[in-house]
Amino acid sequence: MQKKILITGGAGYIGSHAVKLFLEKGYRVVVFDNLSRGFKEPLNILKKIGKLDFIKGDLRNKADIEKVFRVHQIDAVIHFAALCLVNESMENPGLYFENNVVGSLNLFEAMKRRNVGKIIFSSTCATYGETKYLPVDEAHPQDPINPYGASKLLVEKILPWYESAGIRHVILRYFNICGAAMSGIIGDSKKPSQLLMQNAVRGAMGIEPFAFTCAKVKTPDGTPIRDYIDVEDLVEAHFAAYEYLEKNGKSDVFNLGNGKGYSVKEIVSEVEKNFGVKLKKKKAPARKGEYANIFANPQKAQKVLKWRPKKSIAESVESLKKWYTGHPNGYKQ
Ligand SMILES: NC(=O)c1ccc[n+]([C@@H]2O[C@H](COP(=O)([O-])OP(=O)(O)OC[C@H]3O[C@@H](n4cnc5c(N)ncnc54)[C@H](O)[C@@H]3O)[C@@H](O)[C@H]2O)c1
Repeated sequence: MQKKILITGGAGYIGSHAVKLFLEKGYRVVVFDNLSRGFKEPLNILKKIGKLDFIKGDLRNKADIEKVFRVHQIDAVIHFAALCLVNESMENPGLYFENNVVGSLNLFEAMKRRNVGKIIFSSTCATYGETKYLPVDEAHPQDPINPYGASKLLVEKILPWYESAGIRHVILRYFNICGAAMSGIIGDSKKPSQLLMQNAVRGAMGIEPFAFTCAKVKTPDGTPIRDYIDVEDLVEAHFAAYEYLEKNGKSDVFNLGNGKGYSVKEIVSEVEKNFGVKLKKKKAPARKGEYANIFANPQKAQKVLKWRPKKSIAESVESLKKWYTGHPNGYKQ
């Protein structure tokens, strides 16, 4: 019998790419999402690939998530559902702690009650805060500088306490995500997107003006340096983590990044090169709660999960071009 994977947040940007991959690998997928930030449309598209059930529900509502495990026999959970806008979290920290921490706790309790013993959790490099050294490995001190990062760190701290309840976990700390499905069928539909490459591509395609929101920081070209990882590479790491847990791997944490930093200016130049345009940069207020320079040491994931990112920055730009050509305004619903 095909195993069933529960993907929380599967109607969102990264989650929908994970749904696609697990369906392609022959798994049955159950998506749980409240559609507060996600969309039905990618799920309708992905239903053509394999057996996909969608349950609309909110993790903050215990009854919603308990129902999922009552109705479906779940083998493992991939937990993407969260709010993830740094600026919004600075303005409304309570919303972030309630949604991301209490919501996760309800999920873990429901798993415990139904003896579901494997979870992969989406964490973030925002749990590290200001970098003490580069590249950042998993042992780097964690001292978040915004409520979003703090909410993710709290969940990281809670998860090991469920070990005695038989729940093994893999925590994946993502760096900056970019790109879309190479086929162009699904992509990022956040409005407004906080993701640089997406915004630059939309600017280059004339969909909307490109706004330069980064603060002037102490880096060689004065713009923040980040580690970009393509969404299709990222979800492959989730599959590798699932197989690791399947083979009785012990609970662990991995950075997911390329191991190379690119400045905002370098990413913008890459987009300009692809489209053969010079982007007009509309100035916008600098984002709060941001830092100058961060990139990953991804060696642990490469060694233990046998995972390596494959797509180049140029390929990620190309996949976004395809995605926005078909969906200039993102999903309809
Ligand atoms: N996008 C990035 O650059 C990035 C970087 C690091 C970590 N992450 C993490 O990856 C995960 C996915 O991010 P994304 O970019 O796909 O975000 P997204 O907003 O596109 O997707 C999140 C999904 O979760 C759903 N959701 C939120 N709260 C929920 C709740 N209480 N109950 C049910 N569903 C809920 C939303 O409707 C949405 O579909 C998040 O956990 C995020 O923190 C993202």
